[in-house]
Amino acid sequence: MNMRYLEISLQSNEILAQKLYLQFYFPAMQLSKLIQQMMKEPSPIRQIMKMASKQNIINMGLDPDEVISYGGGWVGHHAPEGLRKKYEEICKDRESFHDAGKYSPTLGFEECREAIAKMEKELFGVKLSIENIIIGQSSTQLTHDLFIALANPDDTILLFDPTYANYPGQIKMALRNAKIVRQRVLDVETWEYKSQEEMAEDFKEIYEKEKPKIVMFPSPDNPSSQVFGDEFVKTMADICYENGSFLIIDYAYKTQCFIKPPNYFSWNPSDYPNVIAMHSNSKWCRGLGRRLGWVDANEEIIEAMERVQQCSILCPDTLHQFAMAEYINEALKDGSLKKYLEDVKEAYKKAADETIKAINDLLEMPCLIPQGGLYTLMKVGEDADEFVRKVLKNTGVLFIPGRGFGESLREAVRISYGPHVENLEIIRKGFERVANYLRKA
Ligand SMILES: Cc1ncc(COP(=O)(O)O)c(C=O)c1O
Repeated sequence: MNMRYLEISLQSNEILAQKLYLQFYFPAMQLSKLIQQMMKEPSPIRQIMKMASKQNIINMGLDPDEVISYGGGWVGHHAPEGLRKKYEEICKDRESFHDAGKYSPTLGFEECREAIAKMEKELFGVKLSIENIIIGQSSTQLTHDLFIALANPDDTILLFDPTYANYPGQIKMALRNAKIVRQRVLDVETWEYKSQEEMAEDFKEIYEKEKPKIVMFPSPDNPSSQVFGDEFVKTMADICYENGSFLIIDYAYKTQCFIKPPNYFSWNPSDYPNVIAMHSNSKWCRGLGRRLGWVDANEEIIEAMERVQQCSILCPDTLHQFAMAEYINEALKDGSLKKYLEDVKEAYKKAADETIKAINDLLEMPCLIPQGGLYTLMKVGEDADEFVRKVLKNTGVLFIPGRGFGESLREAVRISYGPHVENLEIIRKGFERVANYLRKA
C-alpha cells in the first residue's frame, strides 16, 4: 500500500479512537442542541465532497490524479501581481511586518475603507463615504453578523430557489428557528429563468403572505450564474423599503459579470437605505484563503454591524487591509486594476463558452447560459444524487448534485468551470469521458 494512503487511514483510525475515548470517559459531555441538530443534517455539497475525498476515490478503485472535478466553487486565476508585490514589500521589511501585526479598528482601517469607496466609485459608479463601509473577515462572517444585526429568531427570511447553498445553514446558525421561505425562479420545464414580470408577481404574492424581514440573493448567482434584471430587483427594493425589510445583494461575483451590468450594481445607500451590498475578496482577486470582505450599507446598519463584529471577530485582518489599500490606490491610478479585471472577466467568459459548447456538442442536456460567475446548471433528467454517484464511479468526473441549492434542482447538477480557467483543455476532456460512459450505459 502507498505510504501516503496508509497514513491517511491511520489518521482516521486515530480520530475514531479519540471519539470512542471521549464517549467512554466523558459520557455526560453534551454539545449544544443546535449543533447536534445541524451535524445530523450535513450540507449535501459537503457529503459529495467527502465522497470525492482521496480515500474514497481510492476505495472506488479510481486514481485520484485522474479525477476531473467540476465541483469546486472557487476561482483558478492568479491574484494581481501588484497585490502580491504589496504583500512582499510589507513582509520583507521588519518594521512594516511588525506594524501589520497590530489590531485593526473594528470597522477596518480608514485608509482601506477609503480605497474601497474609490474602487467602487470608479468600477461601478457607487457613491459611498467611509461611514457606509465595514470591513470584515469574509462575506461568510459578515452574512452571519448581518443576520444577527437585522433579524430576530422569529422572523422570516426569503431566499430564492435555487440559491447559494450556505445561506439556509447560516440562517439557522445565526437565527435558530427563523422561518425560511423560498421563491422559485427557474422554470424546470423550459430550463430557463422566469421572466422579470413573472418573478415580480410571484415576489409580491409571497411577500404579502410571509412578510420576510430579509430578502437575500447573489448577483451573479451561485449556482445558476444568472443575473436578476433591474425591473425585478427594483420591485423587491421598493416593497422591502415600504414595509421595513432589508434586501441584501451578495456581490461575490460582481466583477465577473459577462452581460451589461444592471443599474442596481451602482445603487448607493443614500438612495436605497434598506439595500445592503455584500462583497468579498475571494473571487475578484483570488483571495479565497486571504480572508477579507466588506459590506456597504447606510450608517445605522454599519454602526450595528460594528457592535456585532466586536463580539464575532473583534477586527478584520490588518495585513490584508494594508496590502489591499496600497494596491487599489496604485492600480486605480495607473489603470492596471481595470485592465486586470477586464482580462479576468474575459478568461471566465471563455471558460463558460467552452463549457457550454462541450455540453451542447457531447451531452445535449439542457443547461443555463452563464451571465457571469463560475457555473452552469445542467438538467440530467433523473435523480441528480444518483447521477453524480454513478458518473463519478464510472468516469472519475465529479459534478455537484443540485439538491443543496434548492428543490428545483433535484434533477440537475452544478458544473463549475472556475477552477479550470487557466487550463481550458481539461473542460472538454471531462465531458468526453461522461459522454462515452452514458453512450454505453
Ligand atoms: C454567493 C456566495 N457568497 C459568498 C461566498 C463565500 O464568500 P467568502 O469567501 O467571502 O466567505 C460564496 C463562495 O462560494 C458564494 O458563492
